[in-house]
Amino acid sequence: MADNNAPPENHDSSVDANVPSENENEASIDALARKVQESLSHAKKHKFWETQPVGQFKDLGDSSLPEGPIEQPTPLSEVKQEPFNLPTPYEWITCNMDSDEMCNEVYALLTNNYVEDDESMFRFNYSKEFLLWALRPPGYYRSWHIGVRVKSSKKLVAFITGVPAKIRVRDTVIVMAEVNFLCVHKKLRSKRLAPVMIKEVTRRVHLENIWQAAYTAGVVLPTPITTCQYWHRSLNPKKLIDVGFSRLGARMTMSRTIKLYKLPEQTVTPGFRKMEPHDVPAVTRLLRNYLKLFVVAPDFDEDDVEHWMLPKENVVDSYLVESPDTHEITDFCSFYTLPSSILGNQNHSTLKAAYSYYNVSTKTPWLQLMNDALIVAKKNGFDVFNALDVMHNETFLKELKFGPGDGKLHYYLYNYRLKNVLRPSELGLVLL
Ligand SMILES: CC(C)(COP(=O)(O)OP(=O)(O)OC[C@H]1O[C@@H](n2cnc3c(N)ncnc32)[C@H](O)[C@@H]1OP(=O)(O)O)[C@@H](O)C(=O)NCCC(=O)NCCS
Repeated sequence: MADNNAPPENHDSSVDANVPSENENEASIDALARKVQESLSHAKKHKFWETQPVGQFKDLGDSSLPEGPIEQPTPLSEVKQEPFNLPTPYEWITCNMDSDEMCNEVYALLTNNYVEDDESMFRFNYSKEFLLWALRPPGYYRSWHIGVRVKSSKKLVAFITGVPAKIRVRDTVIVMAEVNFLCVHKKLRSKRLAPVMIKEVTRRVHLENIWQAAYTAGVVLPTPITTCQYWHRSLNPKKLIDVGFSRLGARMTMSRTIKLYKLPEQTVTPGFRKMEPHDVPAVTRLLRNYLKLFVVAPDFDEDDVEHWMLPKENVVDSYLVESPDTHEITDFCSFYTLPSSILGNQNHSTLKAAYSYYNVSTKTPWLQLMNDALIVAKKNGFDVFNALDVMHNETFLKELKFGPGDGKLHYYLYNYRLKNVLRPSELGLVLL
């Protein structure tokens, strides 16, 4: 089971909606470089991943292989009862995230060592409140919050987590682990600690009689069920350009750029409002109906929706449209708050980013619904609104002036084979 993660913070490669040809050339060279990189990583040996029950590159396109679990569950008594061995200076801990002290340690490890973009300009800065939300959903297991400490100093140097989730693949709902927050301290990299972390979380998942997992990574591993792209919508273009997140388009001035991305002060959809606790049943119905459209998607019940969708300050925002006439809940949009530390800039230390989460349009047109989401995000001080090209997001990205980012996000399933690679639009799953 790999760690599940979002990709490095992506740079917005097209600032102007009318991307000039110079940028296009650069973009195509970038695309070519990416293709070369990708084909190299296919040829690359994966000493660890080749030993795991995951789709292997050599099997791609082999239609004789069945869809479904790659290995059958073993009796629980046959699951290894002791943790995997660590190099002698280190020890396993189970992280009690309810403890403020533990939460601070995890926060510090991730803040200083978690995902960066390729040029090390930005690093994800998940807040403590966010971590508590992400790691304690209904039915979570404390034993899946795993740390590695230096025995002598007790310093936390590595981390990996899982949380349980019901995920549907075509017609089958499977309880899986969503694995995330794999992190090894910068000073301990390339020592093959990550495979031990992954094997240990897998073992603890097996002990709960769970045999599948879902995860994402910015790197290519055997083998993605789909590969998605991040798109970025500038809300505060001046800051994004100042910190090097985006560039001023050719023949664009700062004031033209600011004008291009300007949004109305108020949302336009009648009945557009924040989600409240009494909306949980209606939102669950709306989401369940919508997510049926995708090949792989979460199977949310009301408890899940209460946990994952109810607005939580600086963590997750959800809005819906309540018809002024019928009071029916017809549309929904949500985004989570994931700031990035800006590394080495004199004037700015944090990039405030909103990440599109789950959205449903039944009555309000997609463009209008998501433009209202942009308006509330801008009002709440976000600098940029990010979205993957999953679900129906492609119907609004270009028209709402999102530009494609330069990183990819690969989605994986552990111990479950799909016959074919999916298109991003066939995926109904967003991991944090
Ligand atoms: C990701 C990270 C934990 C890997 O640790 P490392 O010290 O670089 O690599 P190790 O020597 O321990 O292990 C290498 C193995 O882990 C695999 N690996 C690397 N990143 C991985 C990931 N994100 N998910 C799953 N496996 C991963 C490698 O493919 C390799 O296995 P292989 O030989 O079968 O290909 C570390 O680089 C890190 O903390 N990076 C910053 C945070 C981050 O990017 N987290 C993951 C986000 S998706």
